[in-house]
Amino acid sequence: MAYDRFGRNLNYLRISLTDRCNLRCIYCMPEEMSFRENAEQLTDDELLVLVRLFADLGFEKIRFTGGEPTIRPNFLDLVQKIGSIPGIKFLTMTTNGTTLTKLAEPLMKARMKRVNISLDSLDPETYKKITRKGYFENVWAGILEAERVGMTPIKLNSVIVRGINESDAVELARLTIDRPWQIRFIEMMPFGVITDLQLKQVVTMEEVKARIEESLGKLHLENFGKLDGEARVFRLEGARGELGFISSVSDPFCYSCNRARLTADGRLRLCLLREGEVDLLTPLRSGASLDEMRELIKNSLWEKPWGNLLSEGVVAVNRTMSEIGG
Ligand code: 5AD
Ligand code: SF4
Repeated sequence: MAYDRFGRNLNYLRISLTDRCNLRCIYCMPEEMSFRENAEQLTDDELLVLVRLFADLGFEKIRFTGGEPTIRPNFLDLVQKIGSIPGIKFLTMTTNGTTLTKLAEPLMKARMKRVNISLDSLDPETYKKITRKGYFENVWAGILEAERVGMTPIKLNSVIVRGINESDAVELARLTIDRPWQIRFIEMMPFGVITDLQLKQVVTMEEVKARIEESLGKLHLENFGKLDGEARVFRLEGARGELGFISSVSDPFCYSCNRARLTADGRLRLCLLREGEVDLLTPLRSGASLDEMRELIKNSLWEKPWGNLLSEGVVAVNRTMSEIGG
């Protein structure tokens, strides 16, 4: 098992399969985003070697992220291979949902039983404004397809941006009355090159919750306040689904963090919101043995920083969200 020096047991690896994306969400990347060169990326074989080492160290859960993970060449094959690695018990991904009408069924077959889908508005025009390139109808069809094939419970991720989609939060929350879904609201975090918008237009979860309660009635805390991943979970009176609130900025959950992140270019990122990274790609390519690589990973995990320093004004600017994978 892998631990850090604060005694946190690390068993959850988030893998950014590509920094590329077919959308350009305003809170994630600039419109004219320049992506990293292909040559710098981990190959499928290198990725498999690394995941086996993480599995040796006790990692059980993998989440594929991006960019948009499903646009990586050979995606289904990779999911299938990684899902077959001994020790890996749980496979999931965070996707923008644009490819799910085609992929939901084969993914279920490849043993990916759940996904989180990003959706920030139910209004096609606002959706377009936020994603710059996406079509609401397409993603909605993808969500329904994921539900049809049994990728349940459906979890949707919504980032709320001041002046853009505050009122959409209420409409998204309303979905849970009739549908057994979890709608998760995420506080916008500052990263990379668009920190101006991210810092100025952040809406706290406190405010989102108050807006929802004002329109839809009181929210009841679920699970005695225990976090579900990073979300604090609530339910509207009589609702079939749940609401999750992720307050990474106003109330960080670093004490319970069990994650490590692997970027598409082979860096081990120890905290989403801190710049520190360990290069795994270079030693792997220059012939380090498996034992040496495992030792490097284990020692790096030990040094995972306690938490983010947003409250002290420290913002990580070396990568955008799409290059880390959220
Ligand atoms: N702050 C918070 N969440 C973000 N995401 C992308 N950029 C940001 C940001 N700056 C979310 C996306 C997606 C997940 C991968 O991260 O909406 O759901
Ligand atoms: Fe793509 Fe997700 Fe970033 Fe939107 S938030 S641009 S869907 S990686």
